Amino acid sequence: MTTARLIALDQILFVLVAAAWAATAGIALTGLRQPAAAGRRTLLIAAASCAAAIVMTALRVAVTAGLAGAGWWFVAEKVTLALPLVVVPALVSAAVSLPRLLRGTATGSTGGSTAGSARVVAFPLLVTAYGAVAGIACGVVISYPVTTGGAAAVLALFAAASAVTWRLLGPARSPRHAWQAAGTCVLALALALTIGGGWPSGHLHTGHDTGGRGVSVDLLRGPAPASAGGPAGARERIRRFTLTAQPATVRLPSGGGAEAWSFNGQVPGPVLRVRQGDLVEVVLRNRLPVQGGSGQENTGQPNPGQPNTGQGVTIHWHGYDVPAAEDGVPGVTQDAVWPGQTHVYRFRAEDAGTYWYHSHQNSSVAVPRGLFGLLVVDPATPVPESEDHVLALHTFGSRPTLSVDGAAPSDLLTRLALPPGARTRLRVVNTDTQPVVLGLSGAPYRIAAVDGGDVPGATDLDGARLHLAAGGRYDLTFTVPSGPVLLTAGDRPTLLVNGPATPPPAAGPVVDITRYGTPAVLPARFDRETTWVLDKTLAVSGGLPRLAQTVNGKAWPNIPTPVVRQGETVRIRVVNRGTDTHPMHPHGHHVRILSRNGVPATGLPMDTFDVAPGEVWEVALVADNPGVWMSHCHDLAHAAQGMEFHLAYEGVSTPYDMANGNHPA
Ligand code: C2O
Ligand code: CU
Repeated sequence: MTTARLIALDQILFVLVAAAWAATAGIALTGLRQPAAAGRRTLLIAAASCAAAIVMTALRVAVTAGLAGAGWWFVAEKVTLALPLVVVPALVSAAVSLPRLLRGTATGSTGGSTAGSARVVAFPLLVTAYGAVAGIACGVVISYPVTTGGAAAVLALFAAASAVTWRLLGPARSPRHAWQAAGTCVLALALALTIGGGWPSGHLHTGHDTGGRGVSVDLLRGPAPASAGGPAGARERIRRFTLTAQPATVRLPSGGGAEAWSFNGQVPGPVLRVRQGDLVEVVLRNRLPVQGGSGQENTGQPNPGQPNTGQGVTIHWHGYDVPAAEDGVPGVTQDAVWPGQTHVYRFRAEDAGTYWYHSHQNSSVAVPRGLFGLLVVDPATPVPESEDHVLALHTFGSRPTLSVDGAAPSDLLTRLALPPGARTRLRVVNTDTQPVVLGLSGAPYRIAAVDGGDVPGATDLDGARLHLAAGGRYDLTFTVPSGPVLLTAGDRPTLLVNGPATPPPAAGPVVDITRYGTPAVLPARFDRETTWVLDKTLAVSGGLPRLAQTVNGKAWPNIPTPVVRQGETVRIRVVNRGTDTHPMHPHGHHVRILSRNGVPATGLPMDTFDVAPGEVWEVALVADNPGVWMSHCHDLAHAAQGMEFHLAYEGVSTPYDMANGNHPA
């Protein structure tokens, strides 16, 4: 069974085990209070229920043992806390309660006075039920690593419930005693929480990961153009673009539409196509309306006195490893650009390939709404394909669309006529927050590039399908056959080359991208290791405890910043304990995939890799681009729910923080 299945099964069993023990206790208590004949029957049911609960509990132990095989990260809190809390009282129930229930089915009595037998028979059963419920609480409160605060909270709850029950099952006392017991337990719980620090105070992260010491990230800029004091005599081509954020309406061919935010009035924004070696200069202007106040339209005049009114904008060059100051993350590498304001980005296009750009201010809202576009860097020596097209997949509302070469998006089948025999490159960009399964049928094809980088030894695929992470890119190459070629996205026909006939969609197996291409020589020694355990647990985010997408049990802004030193090779282990897929995206670097679930990978460099539930990925990051970088899940809603943090270089600090309305997710 896969780890993901075991995780799901474990969650179901959690609830079933708790329900079974609670039911057993309830039935037993009823039976004890009934007259002999009826009581006998009820106690028989209780005994059967108890036996079932024991079996289910054993099953949970087995599932946990199976999960342990995938790694300690998946079971730490279960082995140390959740299981003992249910297994120990379950053993007592089996030894004490079950024989008495069975005796009761014969005699109609479990021996002793009713109060006494209730304590002896029902107390272990109820405590087992509490233990099972405490196990569920563990799953909600505790991730990996196990925190003393979380453990103390769960233990206190368990102890409180058990103590109150012991009192209530005893000889009749004044109800005051029960309340006193309950009060004591609540106090104990509060004390445990405070001491354990389970609810840390939610102070705002100030962004100064290296204590404000060292070089400011602001100084790590792209090169100045030669004309502006750059290296004299450098004969470089400067490519200048202006991207103006402004409202627009998207009209879909099927009749639907959406109010959007756009760059230059078009969604996707203009395709920025440059050549390797070019100096790229992009002027970002924000002409989105100023909201609040009188809701007046933006006049285009700077309003420095009024930051954070309206929708701020930045441009992040997704997958392009630009100098840190050009990375476009509000609160980390710059302040958000507010309506009326302008910002200039400058970087040298050193790496060829397929990339994209998007706003990083309120990105979970802004990117789905249209503030994105594609970036293609043509290699200095041209690609061998004569047909070269960029494809952006994007969902507006609930409608998946395709935009070819920056044209208006279509939610119907797009047609493309290509000369038979032409070598063709389709650059597919997933600008959505969910992964997509691609299929290409009608011709054998190759994955020529992944996340911008060429794949060495790319082999022909025939009818195979591909899993493309949110934010990821694949360049697919093929020779146009005499017949049609069909591209499907999410099993939906989306692009037809040379119809009118439509070939059957690709239905082959999904390629394991981590095993594709010729294996690279991978680093074997690492200067540093770090583990990111992804989960969904109760954590403090935005100053309040909430169900958050967490890394090592914490949510933004409380996730500790991994700090690396320039030149180091870092091994990062990413473990997904949860039930959601997380496309992890470290900024400023491509990581080499070392292994997935313990199976060695070919080492493709990627900037966005999809860690599915139960998976363990090992990747290598070479610290060759100093800065303070964002690192996050590119399911942008998950980032907004806490799954974002920094990766900082020793000796680099940022003057920006989350004040002034900066809000990266
Ligand atoms: Cu495409 Cu930080 O993101
Ligand atoms: Cu995620």
